[in-house]
Amino acid sequence: MMRKGIGLALALVAITVVSLTLFISNMGMDPINHTENESEAITPSEKPLPIPPLLEDKNPNPDEAEFHLTAQSSTSEFLPGQVTDTLGYNGSYLGPVIRVKKNEKVTVKVKNELAEATTVHWHGLEVDGERDGGPHTGILPGETWEPNFTINQPAATLWYHPHLLHKTGEQVYKGLAGLFYIDDEVSENMPIPKEYGVNDFPLVIQDKNLSSNGKVEYDLSMHDVMMGLQGNTVLVNGAINPYLEVPKGKVRLRLLNGSNARIYQFSLSNSQGFVQIASDGGFLEKPVEMSNIVLSSAERAEIIVDFSDYQLGERITLTDQVTGAKLMEFVVSTEAKETFNIPEKLTDIQKIDPSSAVRTREFVMQGMGPNVNINGKQMAMDRIDEHLNVHDTEIWEISNENSGMGGMMGGMAHPFHAHGVQFQILDRNGNPPPANETGWKDTILIYPDETVRVIATFNHKGIFMYHCHILEHEDAGMMGQFEVK
Ligand code: C2O
Ligand code: CU
Ligand code: CU
Repeated sequence: MMRKGIGLALALVAITVVSLTLFISNMGMDPINHTENESEAITPSEKPLPIPPLLEDKNPNPDEAEFHLTAQSSTSEFLPGQVTDTLGYNGSYLGPVIRVKKNEKVTVKVKNELAEATTVHWHGLEVDGERDGGPHTGILPGETWEPNFTINQPAATLWYHPHLLHKTGEQVYKGLAGLFYIDDEVSENMPIPKEYGVNDFPLVIQDKNLSSNGKVEYDLSMHDVMMGLQGNTVLVNGAINPYLEVPKGKVRLRLLNGSNARIYQFSLSNSQGFVQIASDGGFLEKPVEMSNIVLSSAERAEIIVDFSDYQLGERITLTDQVTGAKLMEFVVSTEAKETFNIPEKLTDIQKIDPSSAVRTREFVMQGMGPNVNINGKQMAMDRIDEHLNVHDTEIWEISNENSGMGGMMGGMAHPFHAHGVQFQILDRNGNPPPANETGWKDTILIYPDETVRVIATFNHKGIFMYHCHILEHEDAGMMGQFEVK
């Protein structure tokens, strides 16, 4: 238990009683916290959903790939006629989709054209620590970082984003993030939609505090420090309330919650259900029928929506049930070229046997605001918190100690993430995980007072991070380091 920080937090909160009372009613005991100032909500005109380009592979060799990424500053037009300062990879906002194959030897040349240092972390990728792009691998302005790695994990939708100490929240918020797809024989042979931008679409969902003059500033309010930054406007692939023309058939959506902190509960209008086929680290064994899906910061899900019962021209809305905000629309626009019968069985996932674990390691997420910590410690670059042996299987027991000021404010959920590894969830408070969490996970939402046991085999050497993926919590120090030797 960490106590020394609590007094400080109390003092800090006391100073801002006024702002606190403004949001306290919204926090309640609901583990999915949110605030929405409706009067600030912006309703711009619709535009088509931007589809990020697929990044060109510069290496002609079939089992090798070379990609060039440049982090740069630029401007975007989120609101008609208004200029917003943004960051992007190879463009003004977000980045291209990097698409690789299992067993491929990949080189990425990352150039930093920003005015400050950055890093590029491959979130969900199983690679050695020195190639993982964490806070130890800073790229100074004007410099290039050139990691190479061999893809050695199943097909999945991963992502990349900066990870500079104390700067991750700001750099991601301003636009530095992109998707990283892995294909393998299973994904290539599966009879599911897989034509990029035709029936297989990326949806990167992020919220911003956008003012009516188009400005997006990374200025943390007390509420942001406590809860993580939650914006007044949600963007999908960098557009506000866009529409997407879809075929009258099955469509695959790859959802990434790329927000700094907000937790969404996605659902479709007309009670349109969908099936989830993949979680963070790849396909589930079986498709799972869902009516909505909760994704916390950094979590991904691949879902299949069947639009075949609609008339051409009909519109279906994607909504966040937590706030009621409408995020985008699907417009059924063309006859489908293909019908897909989603297989009953998608893939095999070898269950890791808990008895093969050499130990159980505990992680307690606790504290508030500037005092958020794991196991009573805040991130220190020169301290390794956990030592592991390569190829060991371990159980990690992650708990969220609900230290919400003696229950006065309720607690908040923290998405726990670790680098360089994919986990399987053993149980949540002793109960088996829901069906859509029985596959590979690298980010696990831990609710207040919950204890979640996960298991993994650590096959990569080096220094890696584990942290809360609410980026304001990560930047405040809710992060630690583990070394695999
Ligand atoms: Cu998505 Cu440590 O990162
Ligand atoms: Cu990561
Ligand atoms: Cu957190």
